[in-house]
Amino acid sequence: MKKQPAALIHLLLLCLILVGLPCLAAAAEETVCLQCHGGQPGPLGEPVPLWRESVHQGNGISCHDCHGGDPTDFTMAMSPERGFIGVPGEDEIPAFCGRCHVGVLEDYRASAHGQALGAGGPQCVTCHSNHRIQRASIDLINPQDCSQCHEYGRAEELRQAVSGTDALISGLETDLAELHRLGLDTEQLSGTVFSSRNDFHRLFHSVDVEKVRFKTAVFAQDLGKVEEEIAGIRDELGQRKLWGGVIVVLLVLTGLCALLIHKSYKEESGGD
Ligand code: HEC
Ligand code: HEC
Ligand code: HEC
Ligand code: HEC
Ligand code: HEC
Repeated sequence: MKKQPAALIHLLLLCLILVGLPCLAAAAEETVCLQCHGGQPGPLGEPVPLWRESVHQGNGISCHDCHGGDPTDFTMAMSPERGFIGVPGEDEIPAFCGRCHVGVLEDYRASAHGQALGAGGPQCVTCHSNHRIQRASIDLINPQDCSQCHEYGRAEELRQAVSGTDALISGLETDLAELHRLGLDTEQLSGTVFSSRNDFHRLFHSVDVEKVRFKTAVFAQDLGKVEEEIAGIRDELGQRKLWGGVIVVLLVLTGLCALLIHKSYKEESGGD
C-alpha cells in the first residue's frame, strides 16, 4: 500500500521525460530560418534538406551561424540590424567560411589557388559545395573535380604526398576507438591525433607538393610516438591476459590439490 504513490510518481516522471525530451531537442534545433525556408519552393527551400545531411548540421552550425540574422524572430530574422549578412559573392566566400576555419583560410590565401581568386582559381565552395558539406577526405582530390581547370598530373602528385599520412591518421583513429571500447583512457592520445589531423588536413590548401612532403616528415614523427604508445598498451593488455591465464591455471591446480587432499583424508578416515 505504501509503495503505490511512489510508483505512481515514478511513472509520471517517466512520462514527462519521454514527452518532454524530444520537444526540448526540437526547440533547440528548429529556428525560424529552418521553419520558413523549409516551406519555400525552389532555391530558397533547397538549402534546408541539403544542410540536414551536412557535417555542419551534425556540429550545431545552422543557417544563421553562416548567414547571420536572428533565428528566434520571424519578422526581423533577415534584418541587417540583427546581423544578417546574406549571400556572399564568389570572391567573398573564403573570408565568409574563414571566420571559423582560420587556419585553412591562412594556407589557402597564400596558395596558388588563393592568389588566383577571382581570376579562375577555385574557392571553398568549388571543392566542398555550399550546403551539403561533408567531412573532408583525400577523396576530394580526384580526376573529375581537379581537372576542370588544369591537367590532373599536379593534383595526383599532391594526392600521393598526403595519402600516406592520411592513412596513418585513419589507422590510429580506428586503433584508439578500439582501445576506448575496451575501457581504456585514450583521451590524451586521441587529442594528439585530433590536432594532428586538423593541422594536416589544412596543409592541403597550400597545394604545394614540396611543403606537404616536408611537413609530412614532422607529422610522421609525432604520430609515430602515438603509434609506439598504442603498441605499449597492446603489449600490456596481452601480458595482463597472459597473467590472467596463469592465475586461472594456478587456481584450478590448487582446487585439484585440495580435492585430492580432501579425498585421501576421507579415505584415510573412512579406512579407520
Ligand atoms: C518568414 C519567412 C523567412 C524567414 C523566417 C527567414 N527567411 Fe530567409 N528568405 C525568405 C524569403 C521569402 C527570401 C527571398 C526574398 C528576400 O531575399 O527577401 C529569403 C532569402 C534568404 C537568403 C538569400 C538572400 C539573397 O540575398 O539572395 C538567405 C541567405 C536567407 N534568406 C537566410 C535566412 C536566415 C539565415 C534566416 C534566419 C535567421 C532566414 N532566412 C529567415 C524567407 C524567410
Ligand atoms: C556553412 C555555411 C552555410 C550554412 C550553414 C548555410 N549556408 Fe546558405 N549559403 C552559403 C554560401 C557560401 C552560399 C553562397 C553559395 C554559392 O555561391 O555557391 C549560400 C547561399 C544561400 C542561398 C542563396 C541561394 C543559393 O542556393 O545559392 C540561400 C537562400 C541560402 N544560402 C539559405 C540557407 C539556409 C536556409 C540555410 C539553413 C538551412 C543555409 N543557407 C545554411 C553558406 C551556408
Ligand atoms: C581545391 C579544392 C579545395 C579548396 C579550394 C578548398 N578546400 Fe578545403 N579541403 C580540400 C581537401 C582535398 C581537403 C582534405 C585534405 C586531406 O584529406 O588531407 C580539405 C580539407 C578541409 C577541411 C578539414 C581540415 C581540418 O582542419 O580538419 C576544412 C575545414 C576545409 N577544407 C575548409 C575549407 C575552406 C574554409 C576553404 C576556403 C578558404 C577550403 N576548404 C578550400 C579541398 C579544398
Ligand atoms: C560559424 C562557424 C563556421 C562557418 C562560418 C563555417 N564552418 Fe565549417 N565547420 C564548423 C564547425 C564547428 C565544424 C565541425 C568541427 C570540425 O570538424 O572542425 C565544421 C566542419 C567543416 C568541415 C569538415 C571538417 C573535417 O574535419 O573534416 C568542412 C570541410 C567545412 N566545415 C567547410 C566549411 C566551408 C566550405 C564553409 C563556408 C561555406 C564553412 N565550413 C563555414 C564551423 C563553421
Ligand atoms: C576552378 C579552377 C580550379 C580547380 C577546380 C582546381 N584548380 Fe588547381 N589551380 C587552379 C589555378 C588557377 C592554379 C594557378 C595557376 C596554375 O598554376 O595553373 C592552380 C594551381 C594548382 C597547383 C599548382 C600549385 C603550385 O604552387 O604550383 C596544384 C598542385 C593544384 N592546382 C591542385 C589542385 C587540386 C588537387 C584540385 C582538386 C582538389 C584543383 N587544383 C582544382 C585552378 C583550379
